[in-house]
Amino acid sequence: MKIRVIWTVLLIFCFISSAAVAVQNKGSKEIKLDGGKKGPISFAHHLHQNVVVDCNVCHSIFPKEQGTIKDLIAQKELKKKQVMNKTCLKCHRAKKKAGEDHGPTACSACHIKE
Ligand code: HEC
Ligand code: HEC
Ligand code: HEC
Repeated sequence: MKIRVIWTVLLIFCFISSAAVAVQNKGSKEIKLDGGKKGPISFAHHLHQNVVVDCNVCHSIFPKEQGTIKDLIAQKELKKKQVMNKTCLKCHRAKKKAGEDHGPTACSACHIKE
């Protein structure tokens, strides 16, 4: 009798935890970021989730919401170019220096002229 209750509880727990993993919203595969006068940036979001793994490398600085960087800059919660310099370029440069696979560091490789 008791064992049955424990099993039921365990089963329910497994269901809930696997559902929580399955519904984690990974966001868009590709995101177009606003780069002001320099031109927009095509950001390969899922590629970064695979190479960076820890969401918080980026999402501790801005939340998991579409258009949030632009909004936070408008609200002066983030400075212009802060994400670019302190997150994107910081990592790309460090990896380049370490001789690892890295993203672009040249302006025109990220900013697309329209
Ligand atoms: C290398 C940086 C980076 C990493 C790592 C990263 N994200 Fe994002 N994420 C972004 C950017 C940039 C945006 C777009 C913000 C904006 O539009 O201002 C974004 C937006 C989102 C959004 C909003 C919806 C959308 O796609 O527009 C969700 C949800 C999200 N991320 C989930 C995740 C999850 C879950 C992880 C970890 C598995 C993750 N992100 C890892 C950079 C990253
Ligand atoms: C790794 C990609 C990447 C590279 C390389 C890059 N940028 Fe950016 N840039 C961004 C992102 C993302 C933003 C928007 C977020 C922010 O303002 O931090 C941005 C924003 C900007 C802005 C702010 C525009 C505005 O009015 O809000 C300027 C100016 C800019 N970049 C200039 C440059 C210059 C000059 C270079 C070359 C030295 C360069 N960027 C290289 C990704 C990049
Ligand atoms: C913690 C490290 C890290 C951060 C943070 C990061 N990147 Fe990258 N990025 C990489 C690596 C590693 C690659 C190379 C992946 C590969 O080619 O396998 C890459 C590749 C890229 C590429 C080329 C991808 C392609 O389509 O071939 C672009 C563009 C880029 N990053 C832009 C950005 C922008 C914009 C941000 C900030 C919002 C950012 N990255 C933040 C590590 C990072």
